[in-house]
Amino acid sequence: MNRFEKALDLICEFNKINNSENFGEQIFSNLKKIFRFNSGYIFYTNSTKPEYFFNKKVNSINDIDESYLIEDLLYKKTPFGKIIITGSNFSENDKKIFKACASVIANITKDEEISKILKMQIHAFQEGFDKVKKSNEKITKLEKTKTDFISRISHELRTPLNSILGFSDLLEKEFVGKLNNKQKEYINDIKISALHLLGVINEVLDITKIEANAMKLNITHFSAQQALNEVINVIKPLLIKKHQTLNTKIPEDIEIKADYQKLRQILFNLLSNAVKYTRENGKIIVKCIKKENKIYISIKDNGIGIEKKNLKKIFNKFEQLDRNQENSTGLGLAITKELVKLHRGAIKLVSIPEKGSTFTVILPIQ
Ligand SMILES: Nc1ncnc2c1ncn2[C@@H]1O[C@H](COP(=O)(O)OP(=O)(O)O)[C@@H](O)[C@H]1O
Ligand SMILES: [Mg+2]
Repeated sequence: MNRFEKALDLICEFNKINNSENFGEQIFSNLKKIFRFNSGYIFYTNSTKPEYFFNKKVNSINDIDESYLIEDLLYKKTPFGKIIITGSNFSENDKKIFKACASVIANITKDEEISKILKMQIHAFQEGFDKVKKSNEKITKLEKTKTDFISRISHELRTPLNSILGFSDLLEKEFVGKLNNKQKEYINDIKISALHLLGVINEVLDITKIEANAMKLNITHFSAQQALNEVINVIKPLLIKKHQTLNTKIPEDIEIKADYQKLRQILFNLLSNAVKYTRENGKIIVKCIKKENKIYISIKDNGIGIEKKNLKKIFNKFEQLDRNQENSTGLGLAITKELVKLHRGAIKLVSIPEKGSTFTVILPIQ
């Protein structure tokens, strides 16, 4: 076996090199079996520093002060780096053998380079992922603190408000003595303010719960008439204030299977909107019908109505068509829609500007 054949034999050994940490070392120790050289380098294109070196470190090819053999590392005929060995007295045969070595090394080096880039990317990805995970945990914790705080504070506010409403009711019904007209008017005003505040608190609490996915249904059977009458009773002071009339068409025998509290909230939101967005002396009609497997509750007003382009928009959070509207959060319809959705129901809206609006809640009977 001549030296040339022996060298080719040894070149095959390059393919045994695996992508390990001491990749460069393995390359140069293999080369050592084939050549006598002093130092060796692998440079990648676009990099001044050698990626791997053997024996002596330099910062650029220009710093190599000995004679050397140099070969391009090619991938698909495009050079992506260079391999260099230094020493003296390299023969023509050495040059040929080194060229053969370089092409084998190029193949395995390209793999190494790609796997290195992949490793770097995976590392960066992992780091980013860890960071996001950590900040998500933090946000979830903060969200929970916020939700807990809001539900506590809402409870604290609601309790005295309910007693303000309760006692105004007692006064208004003249259980404790006759009232003159002025006193009646003022009691109504107290109720309206308390009611408004209660509405805002409920809205903030509800949207917080919905956003925290903490809204749970407590399903019971109850009469549609009872639920509607209760809400109408709560709304009454607002109707009186605006001299609006309210007609109802609610059959006695319709039973609803839903969350009582939440259905009341839905009806309260729609009815208070009907009152709010209808002028003085306006007319509101509440109807309930059962058809096929569904219950339809509609609230119709002859108020200001809504333009077609805004019909969808008003169900978004904080969406108000009239920014100057007092006593408004812009949350009512967003909550209403979510509450109806939780009941696997739907809400329909038909409206004509200056003529009025009809909101219909459709609930499955189940
Ligand atoms: N019955 C209605 N008639 C006319 N416009 C309405 C009616 N109900 C709701 N809107 C419009 O939809 C908007 C959103 O309603 P809502 O979410 O209840 O918020 P808010 O009543 O607090 O403003 C209102 O600001 C109003 O512009
Ligand atoms: Mg509203």
